[in-house]
This record gives sequence, C-alpha cells and structure tokens, in this order.
Amino acid sequence: MQPDDALAHLIDFLRFPSISTEPAHAPDMRACAEWLSELLGSNGFQSHVRETGGHPLVIARNPPEPGRRTVLIYGHYDVQPVDPLELWTSPPFEPRVEGDVITARGATDNKGQILSHVLGAIEMLRSSLPVNVIFLIEGEEEVGSPNLEQFLKSHHEELRCDVVAISDTGMLAPGVPTMTYGLRGVAAAELVVEGPAVDLHSGLFGGAVANPLTMLARMLATLHDSEGRVAVEGFYDAVRGIESWEREVWSRLGHDADLLQVSGVSALVGEPEFTPTERVWARPTVELNGLGGGYQGPGSKTVIPASAFAKITCRLVPDQAPEDVLELLERHFARVAPQGVRWRLDKGHSGKPYFMDPGSSYGKAAQAALRETFQSEPVLIREGGSIPIVQTFKECFGVDCLLLGLALTDANIHSPNERFSITNFHAGRKLNQALLRRLAEV
Ligand code: BES
Ligand code: ZN
Repeated sequence: MQPDDALAHLIDFLRFPSISTEPAHAPDMRACAEWLSELLGSNGFQSHVRETGGHPLVIARNPPEPGRRTVLIYGHYDVQPVDPLELWTSPPFEPRVEGDVITARGATDNKGQILSHVLGAIEMLRSSLPVNVIFLIEGEEEVGSPNLEQFLKSHHEELRCDVVAISDTGMLAPGVPTMTYGLRGVAAAELVVEGPAVDLHSGLFGGAVANPLTMLARMLATLHDSEGRVAVEGFYDAVRGIESWEREVWSRLGHDADLLQVSGVSALVGEPEFTPTERVWARPTVELNGLGGGYQGPGSKTVIPASAFAKITCRLVPDQAPEDVLELLERHFARVAPQGVRWRLDKGHSGKPYFMDPGSSYGKAAQAALRETFQSEPVLIREGGSIPIVQTFKECFGVDCLLLGLALTDANIHSPNERFSITNFHAGRKLNQALLRRLAEV
C-alpha cells in the first residue's frame, strides 16, 4: 500500500468522534466500528462488529490454518473527551497534517497505532501472512473496558491465542525501539460527602453546620504525607520491589529530564526514596482527578453546599489487587471521616497491573522485530499508564502481551492537540510485518 493511501485511511478513521464516555456519541462509536470492520472485511479478513452490552467491538481474522501460531492484536477505537476545546489549534476531529505530524484526538491513542497494524497485516495477507491473526479492537478501553473480560470469557474458544500484541504504549524517543514489560493498574472511585438536605444560607447556618466541601477537603488532605507518600494504612503492603537491573537500566535513560520538560512543571515531586522515573513506572499512587460541589458560576454565592465529591483513581503496581486497594481506601476514609456529614465511596472501574518476563521467547521475538524495524537496540521499560485488559489476557489465555509502543512523549495523549508522528505510523506497518514473521518462527 502506498504511504499516501495508508495516511488517507488514518484521516478517515480519525474523523469519527468516538468518545466512549459521552453517551451522546454512541452512534459515532458504532459508525466507527462499522467503518473499521468494513476496512478489514473488504481486504480479506473475516470481520464483524460484535455486541458487548456496552460499545461494540470489532473482531477480524484471516482464514485460520491449523498448525500455525495465533497472534491476537488488540487495540481500541475509542478516544478520550476533547475538553478544553479552546486549546486546540484545529478541530479535534478534523485531522490536520503538517510535515511529519498528524493532529487529531486519537491520532496516537490509539487509532494511529492500531491502524498501522491493520494496514501492515492487510498488506501481508496479499502476499503471505505466516500466522493466524485475530484483531480485537474495542470501544471501551478509555472507560476501563467494563465489558471486555466477560466477552473474553464467553468467547474463550474463538479467541484462544498463543500471544497478544499491542501498540498502545510509549516510545522512549524518536527512533528508539521500545518494549514495555510492565504497566500500572488502575482503580477508580468517587468520594461523596453529604450534609444539609439543600444548599443553605452560609450566614444563617455557617459556623454551626459542617460544610461538605470543607469536610471533603479535610478527608482528602489525609491521603498523603507531606513528602508525597500515600498515607493510607496498608497501601504499600503488596507492592513488589524494583529489581536492581531495572534501577540500573532506567537510570541511564534520561527519562527524569523528559518528565520535567514535557510536563512543564517547575519541579518534580513524590516519594523521596525513589527517582521520578521509578515513581511513575513502579510505584503506586492515589490521585485526585476532579472535585465538585457548591457554586461554580461567576462571582460569589454565600451557601453551604448540600454535598461535595472527589473523583479519585489509584495507579497500582504488582502485586496490588484493585479490590483490596479500594477496600483500604474505604477503611481510611472511615477512620478520618469528620462529624456532621455522611460520606460514601462509590467504587468504579479497575484494571490489574501487568508484568511479564521480557526474556521469554515471545519477548525476544518482539525485540528482534523492533531491532529489525528501527535498526537499533530496543530499550526495555515499564510504564505508568494502564491498559486494563492486558493482565486479563494473560490470566484468561495464559499468554504474554507484547507491548510495542509508538507513542512519543510529546504526543499529547488525552490532552489538547494530540498528535502522531507519520514516521511512526509507517514504521508501525513495518513493525507489524516483522513481528508477525518473527512470531511465526518462535
Ligand atoms: N494508551 C493508554 C495507556 C498508556 C499510554 C500506557 C502511554 C502506556 C503509555 C490507554 O489508552 C489509556 O489511556 N488508558 C487509561 C485507562 C483508564 C481510563 C482505565 C489510562 O491509563 O488512564
Ligand atoms: Zn488513552
């Protein structure tokens, strides 16, 4: 396929506003899945849009041949919301190409990366595709893949595979082939604090009635100590240590400087016993993602709000279990809850942390494919982001997930002006082909 034809497909893919968390976009989600299925179906794959109970997913495969390795390639066609829209320099769903960069929501995470595999495999199918490929491209990754585990379990026979390949992670620097052998997990919850039945006049009641926003702030302030360690009792109990070879390799990557530079903050913070890279790749966190309650309009309004909430997610590392961590969080809040308000912790989506042995035979094949594609020695890293279903693949099928990322640090994923390097898009097609050839030989 000519590079321009490949790019034209990417532009079409990026035009769908497939934001999984916004109910109004449900029709766009389906349209996007149908477009993808049609692309695979009209290029030799048996492809169908499948129902999950939530947003549909796409499953496509080449006619399977017995005796061959089966490689499941996973990706997602859903994207994060676009807000704050005013910071985009062009509309998020009108892809803009400038030099080596294509800008649009989902360009890197994950449409560009998964499409590079789709197009790579389509090309290979025309000449020779030496493995059985199953594409599983879902529409709920950005909301925690709530329906996928059930789908994997109820289609276990159909989806059985020898290895899973995913490009939905980072690349350390342009041209530096990167294999990720560990990801953090995630556990989400919302803390709700309720006081008076309705918003009250703060002059008539202030001083005698507990203010839910103040009480929420007080509870949240107990989550960390003054140096940035999580102060939830038992939080670190199940945390696996960092191996000495990892510390050694990571210290040479220069990633601390990237974190400082790309984030734009004045200084990096966190657990003093660990380097910034170690904190992000191998240490768990409790983060606040959103706060609400009371008056949000212009000017001021003198009320004691009836309620307040905080959106919280924890990033988890081996061997923490999401349910256990949420339980510890709930116990912590029970200990520190002030008088005069009611509170509850609504537990949300979660995904387990992932870790594999990069020296496994499939791991080595993946590194060989990276080396061949980028003509340089691959680096081995862990990463702080999460792909909730990855550990479930491992448990469900007993297989490794090979994470071969093409996302550059300045890709602005989840941020305004998300972009993908067109060089990486085309490299991804080659990587797919090298990988499938190498995996056939394992
Ligand atoms: N592709 C990302 C995860 C990622 C990015 C991993 C870069 C490593 C490096 C994925 O699409 C993502 O954003 N996942 C969410 C999952 C969450 C919503 C459950 C995340 O990590 O916040
Ligand atoms: Zn994402």
